[in-house]
Amino acid sequence: MPLSNLLFAVGVVVFTSLGCLLLVSCRHRSRINGLRKSGIPMPAGWNWITGHLLILDRTFRHLPRLANLSLVIQELCREFADTEMFILDLWPAFAPAIITFNPESELFISQKYNLPKPSTSLESVKPIVGGPSLLSMNGSEWKIWRSLLNPGFSTASLVEHVPYIVDCVEVFCSKLLENAGNGILSLDDFATKLTFDVIMKVTLDADINYQRSEHILATALSTITNWHSFWDPRVLLNPARPFIQMYYGYIMKNYIGKELEQRFADLKRQHLSSPTSQGTKKAKSIIALALEAFVEETKGKEMLEGAKLDPEFASMVTCQTRLFLLAGNDTTSSTIVYIYHTLSKHPEVLSQLRREHDSIFGLDISQTTTLLKTQSALLNNCRYTLAVIKETLRLYPPATNMRQGLPGVSLTALDGRLLDTGGFHIIINHQATHTNPRVWVRATEFLPERWLVQADHELYPPHGAYRPFDIGPRACIGQALTLNEMRIVLIMTARKFNITPAYEEWDEIQHRAIGWWARIRSGIWGKDINTVNGDRAYQTEKAGTHPSDGYPCRVELVQK
Ligand code: HEM
Ligand SMILES: *[C@@H]1O[C@H](CO)[C@@H](O)[C@H](O)[C@H]1NC(C)=O
Ligand SMILES: *[C@@H]1O[C@H](CO)[C@@H](O)[C@H](O)[C@H]1NC(C)=O
Ligand SMILES: *[C@@H]1O[C@H](CO)[C@@H](O)[C@H](O)[C@H]1NC(C)=O
Repeated sequence: MPLSNLLFAVGVVVFTSLGCLLLVSCRHRSRINGLRKSGIPMPAGWNWITGHLLILDRTFRHLPRLANLSLVIQELCREFADTEMFILDLWPAFAPAIITFNPESELFISQKYNLPKPSTSLESVKPIVGGPSLLSMNGSEWKIWRSLLNPGFSTASLVEHVPYIVDCVEVFCSKLLENAGNGILSLDDFATKLTFDVIMKVTLDADINYQRSEHILATALSTITNWHSFWDPRVLLNPARPFIQMYYGYIMKNYIGKELEQRFADLKRQHLSSPTSQGTKKAKSIIALALEAFVEETKGKEMLEGAKLDPEFASMVTCQTRLFLLAGNDTTSSTIVYIYHTLSKHPEVLSQLRREHDSIFGLDISQTTTLLKTQSALLNNCRYTLAVIKETLRLYPPATNMRQGLPGVSLTALDGRLLDTGGFHIIINHQATHTNPRVWVRATEFLPERWLVQADHELYPPHGAYRPFDIGPRACIGQALTLNEMRIVLIMTARKFNITPAYEEWDEIQHRAIGWWARIRSGIWGKDINTVNGDRAYQTEKAGTHPSDGYPCRVELVQK
């Protein structure tokens, strides 16, 4: 009988797959069980079927539903003060991981061994970035691309970008001005649009004015990110997801491809007219500089003579550009919002910040823009401003760091025990490292002075324990750019506006809008948890840890 044969064949396939799965699961779990029995630190409550998944779920229940996974892991870290390191087995949802918040071993991971990026760092951003990028590459491939892209972030380029950033921030200021005294607004939305304008300008030399109008690339990127999750199965298993991401990925690829062709045509024209000249004085975008760096290499010389841009190079640059748009968008914008959040809680810091701006840029605020554009070196004098930014990044780090463990490479826990990293992902929890009470004095307090004291002062930041941008060769390429951008934002806004969170009003409005049934339900089961460590503006799962509910706030003009 053909049908019974078919059923038999299907049966065999299903059983063998199940068998294999069972075998792999058994092998995996018995390894973890072995480690557990030998006393390697891990949360209690591990079991053979679910590993630590239920522990994670239980911890999640003490936190808001949308809290970022890093905050959940930070909660777990509290139990491991004696080792500052533990194993978390979330397999098969996630690779088994070593979580660390031990600064000494983190320097080993990122600097001494410079461990490779795991394959998940490629896969998890692939729908957004389209392929390999600086973030996920390893070894020599990474080295080549890092050196091609470095010129776009050199000190000279950064200086040339300052006037453009100032222009974008002016739009941001005028939007705040229009909304001052006009009810609740989402600062997160304003800041995200600002950073996208900046990143588009510096990477592609595109003036898109996204702060005032829609833009095709922005729509594409945000649709893809909205359909993305690093772990949430409700998003990942949605059958529409791949098609939507593919379609918008195609739009992004097309747009960036066109820009790239344009820059290539510019470069060729320039090469043909005067091959020896060093180009025009105009600030060059990151991709224009990458293109030039590529042409410097042997292969590129022929390319200039040829008619077409090397397709392999073009497709790689497209992915790198998409990475910049991703990496530069959320991290910077959520940090800008958190700076305002901390300032709203520390009026004395805000006053001191304003005094610094008065002393460097003078009392006539209308001169600030011109001064910034013509004397960008003044940025470096704003030491207190930088200290405020650094301290905000300490308490609200917007990015994580993950590496691939290797057999034979061991990490030393605080109690001296060795953990072999083979087969594990290593996750450095920035939140817990940045507030590790063993090494930080007054660890959870917001104290910008830390960044201004001498090395013998007790507040002086401990070595290796501050790593919002990562430490070592793989540290963030955009660090100086983003610090410039944030300083410019503060210098141009801090003396003009008072920004205060409006969560209470916001919650009140939400509560009225949810309807009688939901109100009865919350009356019976209690209100949903909506703070983390008492902070209503907690970091969410939304890419780059945007603050909860988009940071509803009120903006008022400063009365002189
Ligand atoms: C507040 C802002 C930012 C923070 C906190 C931040 C943080 C980080 C961190 C922690 C890493 C290491 C990631 C890992 O190991 O998985 C990283 C890498 C990277 N960041 Fe940023 N970043 C910021 C802004 C930017 C901006 C504005 C850009 C681009 C224009 C950018 C581009 C990159 C790139 C390309 C890498 C990969 C570098 C490499 O592996 O060679 N970042 N960033
Ligand atoms: C980087 O190297 C590690 C270890 O060799 C490997 O497991 C990983 O897949 C590589 N990552 C990528 C993105 O290729
Ligand atoms: C930046 O990221 C946020 C959060 O993912 C997203 O909502 C926003 O649309 C992004 N901006 C752009 C222009 O893609
Ligand atoms: C959660 O926070 C980390 C930084 O701590 C960030 O890298 C990650 O992108 C956030 N999660 C999501 C899904 O964005």
